Amino acid sequence: WEQQFLPPPLVLEDRPRALKIESRLSSLVLCGATLRRVGEVFQREIESGLRERPSSLQMENTYVPELPDGTEEGVFLALDLGGTNFRVLLLELRAGQLVREDVKHYHISDELRLGSGADLFNFLADCVQDFVRAEGLEHEEMSLGFTFSFPMKQHSISSGELITWTKSFKCSGMAGVDVAALLQRCLRERGLRVTVQVLLNDTTGTLVAGAHKDPEVAIGVILGTGSNGCYMERAERVQHWEARHARVRDVVVDIEWGAFGDNGCLAFLRSAFDSEVDDHSLLPASFTFEKYIGGKYLGELLCAALRGLARDALFPAPPAWGALDSAHLSLFEQENLSGAWSQTSDALRTACGAPVSRDDALVAQHVARILSNRAAQLVSVCIATILRRMGRAHAAVAVDGSVFKKHPRIRSLMDKYIALLAPHHRFTLQGAEDGSGKGSALTAAIAARVAARSP
Ligand code: GLC
Repeated sequence: WEQQFLPPPLVLEDRPRALKIESRLSSLVLCGATLRRVGEVFQREIESGLRERPSSLQMENTYVPELPDGTEEGVFLALDLGGTNFRVLLLELRAGQLVREDVKHYHISDELRLGSGADLFNFLADCVQDFVRAEGLEHEEMSLGFTFSFPMKQHSISSGELITWTKSFKCSGMAGVDVAALLQRCLRERGLRVTVQVLLNDTTGTLVAGAHKDPEVAIGVILGTGSNGCYMERAERVQHWEARHARVRDVVVDIEWGAFGDNGCLAFLRSAFDSEVDDHSLLPASFTFEKYIGGKYLGELLCAALRGLARDALFPAPPAWGALDSAHLSLFEQENLSGAWSQTSDALRTACGAPVSRDDALVAQHVARILSNRAAQLVSVCIATILRRMGRAHAAVAVDGSVFKKHPRIRSLMDKYIALLAPHHRFTLQGAEDGSGKGSALTAAIAARVAARSP
């Protein structure tokens, strides 16, 4: 069992060099026992978070009490903010089926991402206005689903405050601000008759969109710029319900596992390379677990590890900080799979500004392999723990995000590690289609259905 977690050895003609490199990278290699320990800590943090005791896991009540049942109807706007792109969408559902989808992408400049919250939200409302004008719907009354992929304290299915920015956003003046209300105000100021019907996280959208395709889906996961998961929890296990909400049987809980360990409970995992990535990040000492997994950080980890090797004269020259990203990691993995190395060495030559041999390219591929393996293992620990907690005979996991879609090995690694970590639970990983767009419209329709039912 233990052996199956280990990445394959590095094979170079220069054997002593290979051994030294492996020893230098050993802090990035996790054994089965360590992963079990991570799972136990995760389980404890889940329990504490649900009970509102101190925990690095927020276990946020999203107030989404049910999944699609095929009756979803209507025309909805959706906003998707948080990852690589900002999008506005128009979606039409008929009997649960998506019959129309118009999308427009908008670029969010660094100034907006790092400026004031008011400027950002005014820009979002400008984009909505531009979009509905182009669609000829400027004077229509419409419901909007706002996918806001950041940790929130939700007060209801349609309101919540930002807890902290993550990934590449850091806008000022947002403490204690209800993001749905702020968006609503900006929309009204533009004379738009659009109502923010639901406020949701991208994992929730992914779960809802996944469950729409397959009723076995009970977990939603994002493996993209950042990483996070949500699942259907029994409502009685969730402590935090704000008074005006009737109790329901189940509810979607947004785990926010990117912050797992921010209280120090995972100190045993952290390598010097992780500390270097964290120090360079926009929001140091926050969302440390995400920095082991998220696409925003995998390229930087690759850089940090190769720079470490260069310092010890085990690699020809250090890559410039930021010169490698997760697309490089995927490329190195792809070439490694096919036994090639020419594109790896081209990319390294550019990143390091020095000639690179075949062996050097193999070293970089090995580093990519180790980092991918670790990311897959850590996300698998989370999924395996949730599967065990849910205790179903079979559950499907809807997964979305650029790393899941583009990394050539991640899916098969996850299949392998989840099976090793939750051997008694059957599962399938399903690539989710556009959770933050379609999922948001479906969630808005669910919210309307639930509201129509309540007294
Ligand atoms: C970050 C956000 C989280 C989101 C994830 C994936 O971890 O805090 O809310 O789900 O990124 O986008």
